[in-house]
Amino acid sequence: MRHYLNPLDLSVDETYSVLRLAEEIRKDPAKYAHAAEGKKLATLFYEPSTRTRLSFEAAMLNLGGRTLGFPSANVSSAAKGESVEDTIRVISCYADIAAMRHPKEGAAAVAAEYSGIPLINAGDGGHQHPTQTLTDLVTILSLKGRLHDLTIGLCGDLKFGRTVHSLINAMSRYTGVRFIMISPEALKIPTYVIQDVLEPRNIPYEETTDLEAALPQLDILYMTRVQRERFASEEEYQRLKDSYILDAEKMKLAPEDMYVLHPLPRVNEITMEVDKDPRAKYFYQAQCGVYARMALILTLLGLADTKLEDREVWKRPAASQRIVNRFACRNPHCITTIEPQLDQVFVVTDPERQICRCLYCETKYDGN
Ligand code: CP
Repeated sequence: MRHYLNPLDLSVDETYSVLRLAEEIRKDPAKYAHAAEGKKLATLFYEPSTRTRLSFEAAMLNLGGRTLGFPSANVSSAAKGESVEDTIRVISCYADIAAMRHPKEGAAAVAAEYSGIPLINAGDGGHQHPTQTLTDLVTILSLKGRLHDLTIGLCGDLKFGRTVHSLINAMSRYTGVRFIMISPEALKIPTYVIQDVLEPRNIPYEETTDLEAALPQLDILYMTRVQRERFASEEEYQRLKDSYILDAEKMKLAPEDMYVLHPLPRVNEITMEVDKDPRAKYFYQAQCGVYARMALILTLLGLADTKLEDREVWKRPAASQRIVNRFACRNPHCITTIEPQLDQVFVVTDPERQICRCLYCETKYDGN
């Protein structure tokens, strides 16, 4: 059984198979109308969502399957204090596959550890949002015809924007990709993304505050919302919320074949006049999300022509490679902060330099 918690949980070849299937579905959806008949998808959403939850549900219905689930923690037994572990054990008795969104980082990893069915991370705090990434890859591939040799501008809240973290992870596997990261100083991409993903793979990147200067260089502009719900201070959010507003005037600086993507929802960062520009592709991107999720569901259920390798991509490491309950994860957004019964597990990634990371939220510690 395979889960999907991080875009890298699928190899490059496996990702390509899912993307190819999504493209086949886009061209001939009727062919797949009964492909998951008799199967049930559970959508477990502890945090608000429009696109992810409803596109998952649309995807399963389009495949002839059925859905069940809850749209917020308030209407589930989480409101009575039920843990993620117990919830997923129970859901495993009711459904064949589950998609879970949670405000805490690492919640999907906890669920995967206890799940009896394939578990899809539908967003865990500011950490990862791999099915948005699959959606982005389907969209970019269909617009540009390739995933390699692209200059991608990432603009806005690069600190809390989980979609950006997942997209960098995924796109870094293709040759000739370059990133221009456009953000205010306070919302820069986290250092660990640079140190763990970009630098080891020699991926060229620039960090800038200047959207206008970046625009002429881009193949893709990926706009993001400033993530109000992840700020400790409302005052700080108010200060930063309108840092970048893409309008028709700025679009004049962009190449004719540069496409604008946005995971949505948008707040104020793209004016509505840009929607009329043929390069604005964020609503098409939302449509691609249904094809991407249909392809993923079929693949994880073993119903696609291409079978996944039989390997467990998420598991607790061997005892010699982990530290248990010696200290607590200091990330205030980690799932362990609200589920005190969980062991505090750290995976040792570099024994010589005493570097380890939280098994769940992946926060890195260097022995201090
Ligand atoms: N893109 C995205 O995750 O949107 P929702 O929050 O509406 O699911």
